[in-house]
Amino acid sequence: MTSYKLVDFKTLGDERGSLIAIEEGYNAPFDIKRVYYIFGTKEGVERGFHAHINLKQMAIAVKGSCTFVLDDGTKKEEVKLDNPNKGLFIEGLIWREMKDFSEDCVLVVLASEHYDESDYIRDYDKFLEEAKNDS
Ligand code: TYD
Repeated sequence: MTSYKLVDFKTLGDERGSLIAIEEGYNAPFDIKRVYYIFGTKEGVERGFHAHINLKQMAIAVKGSCTFVLDDGTKKEEVKLDNPNKGLFIEGLIWREMKDFSEDCVLVVLASEHYDESDYIRDYDKFLEEAKNDS
């Protein structure tokens, strides 16, 4: 299955401020095996440029903002992450690029698998071929 969607996280807050909890199997619809974060991204940098074969991920801009370009092989869409109460869930063969990082952006990514280079498709033509076979 190939899809992505924005998930709204419930913000728990009181006079002290805000708190958001992400729990495996509830608002993160997969087992979380890995967490990584991207920060200190230099101006004008674009990252990603790959798809994954099996990986499920949830990306959250816990601070600042950035834009994902998501491509399923037939259409491209841009999704801006600019609020810690929003998660971008991605599963299946989606080519993703990230751009327009604000200087203060901290992008946290929850992943369903350990890091595995063999799960990456880094060649766009190969991705298009795989996406065609997948549909
Ligand atoms: P890269 O895949 O280029 O990041 P992005 O897709 O966000 O542009 O990853 C940068 C480097 O970090 C690369 O050498 C692989 C390594 N890496 C890990 O070791 N573990 C991880 O979980 C991730 C995401 C990357």
